[in-house]
Amino acid sequence: MEADNGRRWLRWPSDPARARLAYGADYNPEQWPRETWDEDMRAMRAAGVNIVSLAIFSWARIQPRRDVWDFQWLDDVMDLLHANGIAVDLATATATPPPWLTTAHPEILPVDRHGHTVWPGARQHWRPTSPVFREHALRLTRAMAGRYRDHPALAAWHVSNELGCHNVYDYSQDAAEAFRRWLRGRYGTLETLNLAWATTFWSQHYSEWDQILPPRLAASYPNPTQQLDFIRFSSDALKDHLRAERDVLRELTPGIPVTTNFMVMGEMKAMNYADWASEVDFVSNDHYPRPGPGARDELSFSANLTGSLAGGRPWCLMEHATSAVNWQPVNLAKQAGGMARDSLTHVAYGADAVCFFQWRQSAGGAEKYHSAMVPHAGEDSELFRSVAELGATLAALAPVAGTRRRRADVAILFDWESWWASELDSHPTSLLRYRREALDWYSALLAAGVRADVVTPVGDLTAYPLVVAPILYVVPDPLARRLEDHVASGGHLVTTYFSGIVDQNDQVRLGGYPGAFRDLLGIRVEEFGPLPDGEAVELDLGVTGTLWTDRVDLTDPATEVVATYKTGEQAGRPAVTLHRAGSGSASYVSTRLGPEGLAVILPRLLDAAGVTSELPPEVRGLVDVTIRTDGTDDYWFVINRSDRHVDLTALPGAPLRAPSLATEAVLAPRRVQVRRAPARDGDSPRPPA
Ligand code: GAL
Repeated sequence: MEADNGRRWLRWPSDPARARLAYGADYNPEQWPRETWDEDMRAMRAAGVNIVSLAIFSWARIQPRRDVWDFQWLDDVMDLLHANGIAVDLATATATPPPWLTTAHPEILPVDRHGHTVWPGARQHWRPTSPVFREHALRLTRAMAGRYRDHPALAAWHVSNELGCHNVYDYSQDAAEAFRRWLRGRYGTLETLNLAWATTFWSQHYSEWDQILPPRLAASYPNPTQQLDFIRFSSDALKDHLRAERDVLRELTPGIPVTTNFMVMGEMKAMNYADWASEVDFVSNDHYPRPGPGARDELSFSANLTGSLAGGRPWCLMEHATSAVNWQPVNLAKQAGGMARDSLTHVAYGADAVCFFQWRQSAGGAEKYHSAMVPHAGEDSELFRSVAELGATLAALAPVAGTRRRRADVAILFDWESWWASELDSHPTSLLRYRREALDWYSALLAAGVRADVVTPVGDLTAYPLVVAPILYVVPDPLARRLEDHVASGGHLVTTYFSGIVDQNDQVRLGGYPGAFRDLLGIRVEEFGPLPDGEAVELDLGVTGTLWTDRVDLTDPATEVVATYKTGEQAGRPAVTLHRAGSGSASYVSTRLGPEGLAVILPRLLDAAGVTSELPPEVRGLVDVTIRTDGTDDYWFVINRSDRHVDLTALPGAPLRAPSLATEAVLAPRRVQVRRAPARDGDSPRPPA
């Protein structure tokens, strides 16, 4: 299927025009004897699997020595899959270099900030900037593309695997040299770099490029702009690797789409996916929730953000878990219904493919206790039965394939640069967590029954009546202008503590905080008031602030006080403000209120922006709702985010029937209902920005 912008979705080998959702897993047949492969095919068909990712960790098997290749087994697997109607997302197999390569070329091994070598023995032990690694990886990529370019099972290319999962920060000599090249590209002259890095501080002035190093272990805080640039560089170095493999694939197999699996989840922050997304033909994501109170909303948030990265086009959930993972201190099995609820949440936010790690649970190796579609117990298990039910459910949801998520009225602006820079060391507090604040707002909006799109600064903000920009710490001039223009043209902006503080070089905007937004917000902050861990302050609306307070002064009579500090150093001062400018407004929240506190002030902020819930009062806050549409039919994905039974009778449309979908009028906890309703008049599908 051709998506817009010339970018493509999976190339289905059989019956390409048929609408379908993809369903499958990482498939690692090399871990099993040949007989098992036949069992796999039968069981895959029984489960409704129509795609697998193959050869992700197969380098050592495909190329056991420098000039010895063994493709026979992979040819057989490809043929077998094709004969069974299963498409292949084929990896370039470059994720983990084999022992012969690391023995012959130990100079490809990463080095940590202490100068220690990261040895082979696990996976992904390669330097993103190593020319030797690159040469060998591209040789393998070329061999894979040459071998399988015409194979009928080939539906997509899967570059490497989770680029940067373990090797993003490398402090080796290769990295030092590549960092200098990158800095020359960014700054042109050493003088510009010295100014940007404020090297007059602590006697750091550079007089030759070769003096510059990655921020290796230092006596105290490394230069913050050097740190920020090293994070930017490290993301770019892996992006370069992605592009290098992709370009080989595009040269040899121009008709096959190329993807790689992102890690939009939790605190995985090193790769700027807003910047990577345009490099692939379609976006793929892996998602593993960390159990805990916010886990369900975090999953929704990640899926939502991934949908924005995909630009509203179909995207692939490349990996998630059927049940327990193996890498947490205690690995909990998912509760009944949890697996289908998680999978369908991704579909709700635009995924047209639902895949797991992995097909058959390994008997040996580091991940043998990680769940899979076929567990150690075998097919005669509750887990496998629910896997097959989910397969049947996704088949029944085929009409949803290719539909677009309707844009929400609220955008939450999510900015990797602010995430990186706001959490650097030597700041007013080390307790600040960028993503947690963004997630707090997301949860508060869900609780208010208001849909929000999580968008990046790359996207278009103009269509959103309300933009929420939590901890927007790094604000280059063009972004400041865009937000000013948004408000000037009648839009509404809400921002928080530690926003508008620095420019792109992490240099403070002077004259009082928040330098970039002082006039827009009609306030001035002379001093930050971070709170010790465990300390809280009371506000007059009966809400509590933690983490941070500000000494806020109003600078414009048009600035209204929404909430005031009652206790603490700032008692009597404004805590939440709203500044009207024409028909627009800009609001400021100077403390961490958490989802519960935000829920109290949110009605006032939504009201100022004219945003209302589109949900009937009886379901508001209890369900997470997205609407996917093809312009004729709307598909309402209604996901229970509460521990209660929720009466859905007031929602439009009628429930679709499928084994994992709830069809009753009352939605039980962990259940999902999909309702089809005629598309609203005059509403065309509007993808998120
Ligand atoms: C991912 C990885 C998979 C597997 C999975 C386990 O990071 O891509 O290969 O390790 O985690 O949760």
